[in-house]
Amino acid sequence: MTTRDARGEPVSAATSSSLAAYEAALLQFNSYMNDPVATIDAALAEQPDFVMGHVLKAETMISAWERSVTGPVRETRDRLVALKDKANARERGHIAAIDAWADGDWAGYKRRLDIVSAEHPRDLLALQAGHLSDFYHGDRDNLRGRVARILPAWTADTPGYSYVVGMLAFGLEENGDYGRAEETGRHALALDPFDGWAQHAVAHVMEMQARQAEGIAFMESAADRWSRPGNAFAFHNWWHTALYNMDQGNTDRALAIYDTGVRPAPSQLQLEMVDAVAFLWRMHLRGLEVGDRWADLADTYARTGEEGFYAFNDMHAMMAYAATGRTTDADRLLTEVERRATAHGTNGDMTRAVGMAVVGAIHAFGRGDYARATDLLLPVRTRTYPFGGSHAQRDIIQRTLVEAADRAGRTALATALLQERTFLKPACPFSWGWLTRIRSGDAVRKVA
Ligand SMILES: [Fe+2]
Repeated sequence: MTTRDARGEPVSAATSSSLAAYEAALLQFNSYMNDPVATIDAALAEQPDFVMGHVLKAETMISAWERSVTGPVRETRDRLVALKDKANARERGHIAAIDAWADGDWAGYKRRLDIVSAEHPRDLLALQAGHLSDFYHGDRDNLRGRVARILPAWTADTPGYSYVVGMLAFGLEENGDYGRAEETGRHALALDPFDGWAQHAVAHVMEMQARQAEGIAFMESAADRWSRPGNAFAFHNWWHTALYNMDQGNTDRALAIYDTGVRPAPSQLQLEMVDAVAFLWRMHLRGLEVGDRWADLADTYARTGEEGFYAFNDMHAMMAYAATGRTTDADRLLTEVERRATAHGTNGDMTRAVGMAVVGAIHAFGRGDYARATDLLLPVRTRTYPFGGSHAQRDIIQRTLVEAADRAGRTALATALLQERTFLKPACPFSWGWLTRIRSGDAVRKVA
């Protein structure tokens, strides 16, 4: 008789204890709680041929999307390839996906998981691993579509249903369907008030609609749930909360959140580094004092060997070097990114499409060449999706362009860009204030 997981998907070579460990680790992955790899490793120590255990381990590690995991992912890929004869068709689909990612074909990983989901719509691991890969590709259509395609196979009592609803909420938000996104996200939170991803989807709606004051209340009032001990996604929800505060002019509160929530301790995880930089760079653009907070980020980027792995991360590394005046590090990174732009694989594509221009622009901005920064960003400003991140994250590129244009003396351009910004987000006090200052000829960096 075929063994099945809690959602009815077939699982090969599983014992009752390894399957229980798989469900426990999957729940941790779904809820971003604690360490799914440690949980599944314990099961794999007892049952080394448990295929879905290795699959979950690999796809959890991949979700960090950084060079440091490629070695362990390749080791797990090799174990899976050796177990292929024991694997069923669904598991072989996962193995093919992991094999693609391990060789730098991230687009292939995403595509193969899409096929697994089509054939096994209740495969919650395939759905979430695919959802996260959509995010890293900036594939907003698929952030919504991937979830929509499997939805008919789910009912409210299918184990993990609330997480599916939370993912759908984020997909709706990234497609600008804010009303349905908020409704869906709040429904997911009603099903599971601790779901940090659903909380995050609603936070994005509020960010995109410039509902900062409401956003602060929404996040702070539920912080004991989404940032409970062991939640590995809390730093990012704190980042959103810090951004609301910054744009509201609550700079002290924003910095306090940075210190206690966004970067409470030194970390070299790229996802956490990116958020820390993205906060500080927004402050930097406005000429706001951040003390010595940049130093540990620039140091960490320079020593962790992640340069040239993922263009989106490279942009943030360059911001750390530019803000700290580390010209040697900045020049080295630029050379590395130029080299990667000639490489095969998905990151090569991303670097050619977006990374080269934005990393080059930040490099120029750091040297005070604001005209070059402007000229590099203008052609790509409306097509930066392909190197990943959310609209809220990529907004840093728009802000950098406005500031570069202003500093380059291209006031008409800076004004025009801000007029677009206030048109799209009429409720945003920050954008109106910026526009007023530029129109009056008062440099943003002097008065922010
Ligand atoms: Fe976010």
